Formats: sequence, structure tokens, C-alpha cells
Amino acid sequence: MRKPLIAGNWKMYKTHLEAMRLVQGLAHELAEHDFDAVEVVVCPPFTSLRTIQTLIDSDRYSFGLGAQNVHVEKEGAFTGEISAPMLKALDVDYVILGHSERRELFGETDEGVNAKVKVCWANDMTPIVCCGETEAERETAQTETKVERQIRGAFKNVTPELARKTVVAYEPIWAIGSGKTATPQDAQTTIAFIRGVLEDEYDTGVAQEMRILYGGSVKSGNAASLMSQPDIDGGLVGGASLEAAELAAIVKAVK
Ligand code: PGA
Repeated sequence: MRKPLIAGNWKMYKTHLEAMRLVQGLAHELAEHDFDAVEVVVCPPFTSLRTIQTLIDSDRYSFGLGAQNVHVEKEGAFTGEISAPMLKALDVDYVILGHSERRELFGETDEGVNAKVKVCWANDMTPIVCCGETEAERETAQTETKVERQIRGAFKNVTPELARKTVVAYEPIWAIGSGKTATPQDAQTTIAFIRGVLEDEYDTGVAQEMRILYGGSVKSGNAASLMSQPDIDGGLVGGASLEAAELAAIVKAVK
């Protein structure tokens, strides 16, 4: 049984004080939530990781903590970058890798994502590997080619032991922040395809254990129908994760 996961990708939103309020609000909304049944992870900007780690420690909040990127080197002259040991020292559990915004705006490549997957695991953090097609690729029936390339690239020389614990997020780029969502059936079809690629890359056991999330305009109104699909194991939520009640409603929509 794959444990559902809802991860909030806060992108470049919220100062550390706003982040603190958001996480406290979320804890309040989810006071009765069974975190063993549905895992909840917040991925704030780097500047809020320390604050939220302290809150999680002191109040025993049951959220997981995620970062949105990492540099592959342990340390060095890389102005503006943050290393995996630095994240691990803040008890970061997850790192979002290869988000389409990083690929499109910051030149992230499949090779780079692959290197970061290995660095995360070397530091005992779980990668959330993102993939997804543009609207043009979708219209020209290239969705499968694109996500297959991204998945095979990200998992190159990653052992089955590590792959089985790695999270994948399928995020059609045209659905991100656009208010347009893939239909539950379309999302299910592509996610089942991704699981098939992973099965080919590893084996059925590994592919069946891996959690694959859907992302792209997930909100409380569409969460239940998306999350009830057999291969969709949760959501990577952007805009709707910036409001405590809305994110909590998405978590509660997961059965
Ligand atoms: P969205 O973003 O929920 O605002 O569409 C999802 C994401 O980019 O991870």
C-alpha cells in the first residue's frame, strides 16, 4: 500500500513570519488529521526552513519538511546556492527536483536532476522528481515521449533500493498555476504510463511501491476526484497550498 502524500510547494511566496502563520494555521486546521494515513509536507522557500523546522520540533507538528531545490556540491564557491548537507542539518525530509519552473527559467536539465537525485539520497533526503509536458507537446501527442525521457534521465544509475522510495510528481506544465487541470482520467492515464516506464526501468515491485503525485491547479474542489484514481498517490500543490484552510481541505479530500 502506497501512503498518500500531499506536498505544498510554496514557490517564492511567504516571508518567514508569513510562513510561520501559515504552518500554524495548517496545524490548527489539521488538528484531528491522521498523519499516518495521509502524509503532509510543506516546501517553503529556503529562508523559512529554519523557522518551520523549529515549529515542527517544538510543537511536535507532524508535517514533513521539504526544500524546492539543492546544489549538487557539498560546499564551495557557489554564490547563492544551498547544499544537501545544509538542508539535512535543518531536518529537511524532501527536496523537489526538476520542477518545470526550474527547467524553464533556470536551465535545469535531466542530467542535473539525476545528479541531484543522487545527492539527495547520499544525504538521506527523499527527492520529489517532477516531470510534465507543455501545451504544445500535448497537442502534438508528445506527452509520453517527454515524460519518459525525463523519468529515464532522472533515474539513470539510481539503484532500485533508492528508486522505490523516491517520489515522482507528474505536472502538466499547461496546468500549473493556470486554473486548468488535467481531467482525473487524463492524469491517471499519464501516471499509469509513468509507472510503466518505471516498471521497465526497474521491475513491477519497485514501480508499484513508488508514489506518483499529480500537480497542476489542484484545489479542494477537484482533489477528491483526482486522488481517487488508482495510480495517483497524492498531490504537489502550488497556489492552493498558500492558504491553510484550502490546503487542509485538499488533505481531507484524500481517502
Ligand atoms: P499550482 O502549482 O498548484 O499552482 O498549479 C503546482 C506546482 O507548480 O507544483
